[in-house]
Amino acid sequence: MSIIDQSGTFPIGDRRVRRLGYGAMQLAGPGVFGPPRDHDAALAVLREAVASGVNHIDTSDFYGPHVTNRLIREALHPYRDDLVIVTKIGARRGADGSWIPAFSPEELTQAVHDNLRNLGVDVLDVVNLRIAFDLHHPAEGSIEAPLTVLADLQRQGLVRHVGLSNATARQIAEGRGITEIVCVQNQYNLAHRADDALIDDLAREGTAYVPFFPLGGFTPLQSSTLSGVAARLEATPMQVALAWLLRRAPNILLIPGTSSVGHLRENLAAAGLTLPDDAVEELNHMADIAG
Ligand SMILES: NC(=O)c1ccc[n+]([C@@H]2O[C@H](COP(=O)([O-])OP(=O)(O)OC[C@H]3O[C@@H](n4cnc5c(N)ncnc54)[C@H](OP(=O)(O)O)[C@@H]3O)[C@@H](O)[C@H]2O)c1
Repeated sequence: MSIIDQSGTFPIGDRRVRRLGYGAMQLAGPGVFGPPRDHDAALAVLREAVASGVNHIDTSDFYGPHVTNRLIREALHPYRDDLVIVTKIGARRGADGSWIPAFSPEELTQAVHDNLRNLGVDVLDVVNLRIAFDLHHPAEGSIEAPLTVLADLQRQGLVRHVGLSNATARQIAEGRGITEIVCVQNQYNLAHRADDALIDDLAREGTAYVPFFPLGGFTPLQSSTLSGVAARLEATPMQVALAWLLRRAPNILLIPGTSSVGHLRENLAAAGLTLPDDAVEELNHMADIAG
């Protein structure tokens, strides 16, 4: 039994994954654009993750673009039967690295085929539609047109399960009228808790919630509260941030990103960290302080 077994499991559609997974975005070059600084180090992170028991990897073909998917394929193909690779569509990259919404039927179809080719699979396990009425925050607007395209690709057998990213509760409800929504991937962490009510609703409904930026994203979380709790528990601040998310709700699946094997090991060890109630109470107030 590996340490990450202690985090438990939760289903994504008909697949059950360990709650501590891995997000591959940090493996691309600076600004998630271009190749990694150290190709072999990137492969080593992916291989170490799977060897440690990670069976949920988050990616997208617009990371690089094409870079993280090709690294995943090079490092891990042929894939273990229990590995669930979750990708996302809805953007493309400009020549300058900019992020450009890409929701036409042609662009969405192309994105699914790009993911299939670069990951080296016949069917994608899970595809999140990454909504972008506002690039950085969930914002209202109908997703019927792009989700119908994705549901058609699902009916053709190219996609097993569908999820939503950067989504509002209303969009999730609208999406469920079109196809089953097996997971929601929005920004959420100790200091950014706009989705508190949504997480509880999804937990009651048995839908996975996958916070992106679980460690704070490009600028990892920094707080004296977090550092103080970590010092008391002889853990690192990042481990405490992850342990808090595991404790927050049973449907939360973690995909912390890192380009370093050392940080990966540190993050996976968070599965073995149990936070005492007083620490949770203290951490629960971090959002108020940070906000
Ligand atoms: N749906 C979306 O719109 C969306 C948006 C963003 C991300 N995502 C997904 O979410 C995943 C996670 O997000 P993320 O990687 O951007 O952010 P994150 O997991 O919150 O944090 C990653 C950052 O933390 C650093 N880090 C990781 N472990 C650390 C440790 N133990 N100690 C110190 N620093 C550490 C990383 O640097 P090092 O490389 O130096 O470790 C990196 O700078 C991504 O990989 C991606 O798959 C989805």
